[in-house]
Amino acid sequence: MATPQENNIHPVFDRILQRPDKQALLKQNSKVIWMTGLSGSGKTTIAIALEQELNKKGYLTQILDGDNIRTGINNNLGFSEKDRAENIRRISEVSKLFLNCGVITINCFVSPTIAIRQNAKNIIGSEDFVEVFVNTPLEVCEQRDVKGLYKKARAGEIKNFTGIDAPFEEPTSPDVDVKTDQTDVEGCVKQILDYIEPLIAFK
Ligand code: ADX
Repeated sequence: MATPQENNIHPVFDRILQRPDKQALLKQNSKVIWMTGLSGSGKTTIAIALEQELNKKGYLTQILDGDNIRTGINNNLGFSEKDRAENIRRISEVSKLFLNCGVITINCFVSPTIAIRQNAKNIIGSEDFVEVFVNTPLEVCEQRDVKGLYKKARAGEIKNFTGIDAPFEEPTSPDVDVKTDQTDVEGCVKQILDYIEPLIAFK
């Protein structure tokens, strides 16, 4: 592959204000909170409640969500294995920009395989990547069926649907594991806060 210079690209990262400058301005340490789980598991619901709590405590955050990102920057991607990998690659690069801007991002993506999440972690950097498993059994997601997609997937109207005819590989050692069928939203948020507050608190 050609170097950036050979492609006439000259990165200017060395002259741009650095992450520590921005973290100091915001008085917070940035991290990427990466929520993985089935469609309908509750990722976005928890992210919204978590963001409210963090903002009350003075933290600047940004939610990145599958349904929104896929109508914008990733509107040319579908749900093949290759497209999902590209979806997550781009999101990880975007997350890195926020990270360098001192902002805490809360990402809600199915991100269904260990390899896809490992790639996200590699791009973002393992020390800045907090993996949260929104651990809701398929039966519960299917019963909730908030968007009516499980019904369509069972009827064969949607192909490659995660949990039905496409795989979901559970994280083997997530930083936080929230069980939404046993714990309410507030409890799940508390579990995440307890883990991340020491990491994001500015010292
Ligand atoms: S990912 O697999 O590439 O990480 P992402 O989180 O962006 O997925 O998008 C998942 C959302 O897209 C789901 O919550 C659901 O609303 C919608 N969706 C549409 N088709 C599919 C599908 N085949 N598999 C999973 N989710 C789908």
